[in-house]
Amino acid sequence: MVEQKATNVTWHDGNVERSDRQKLLGQKGATLWFTGLSGSGKSTVAVALEQALHGQGRLCYRLDGDNIRLGINKNLGFSAEDRAENIRRIGEVSKLFCDTGVICLSSFVSPYITDRDIVRDLHKAAEIPFIEIFMKTSLEVAEERDPKGLYKKARAGEIKNFTGIDDPYEEPVNPEIVLDTEKMTVEEEVNALLDKLRELGVILDFED
Ligand code: ADX
Repeated sequence: MVEQKATNVTWHDGNVERSDRQKLLGQKGATLWFTGLSGSGKSTVAVALEQALHGQGRLCYRLDGDNIRLGINKNLGFSAEDRAENIRRIGEVSKLFCDTGVICLSSFVSPYITDRDIVRDLHKAAEIPFIEIFMKTSLEVAEERDPKGLYKKARAGEIKNFTGIDDPYEEPVNPEIVLDTEKMTVEEEVNALLDKLRELGVILDFED
């Protein structure tokens, strides 16, 4: 748990509520959290799902590990401590997006169960759906895909603390959705996600 440093601060309510924003947008916010090894397809599937949802008239926003590390989290590296802070901040940002009514697609390696559970609890406390999507991919296949050539560099000792090589990845114990990326195409994955999101009640017609 991160310590509350500032004292003498209190929550200030506005006159427009989450439900008012939901009515304005005609949808409810939710976080779809993609976790898995580098090269497991998190960003690819998030991009495709975003396009599909957008095409159905749903406002989405993607938060992607690499993109976020080029901006708000540019001061963080890959130690366990920095990864925890990376995920904590993005958990908070995802929650804010959801509070505005936006569907947030967050794709981060997020290798530690504890860090992901903190984000899950944050959403639960705010009564916002949190859907953990495990991009199930063996290290062998991720390494074979190696879309950014990073596994090659990690094996050559040019990158330290690389997830799956010399840093751990803790698989989700009870994720809402598991996608076996070695067996499914991106299109099948997107369709499976759309079905599942409907089943879980995340995508609803607003009147529902
Ligand atoms: S996380 O562990 O803190 O969740 P995040 O998803 O933000 O990681 O960033 C991972 C991305 O950074 C990977 O897709 C990869 O492109 C790049 N990267 C660079 N160094 C590492 C590393 N040591 N471990 C994992 N990914 C790394």
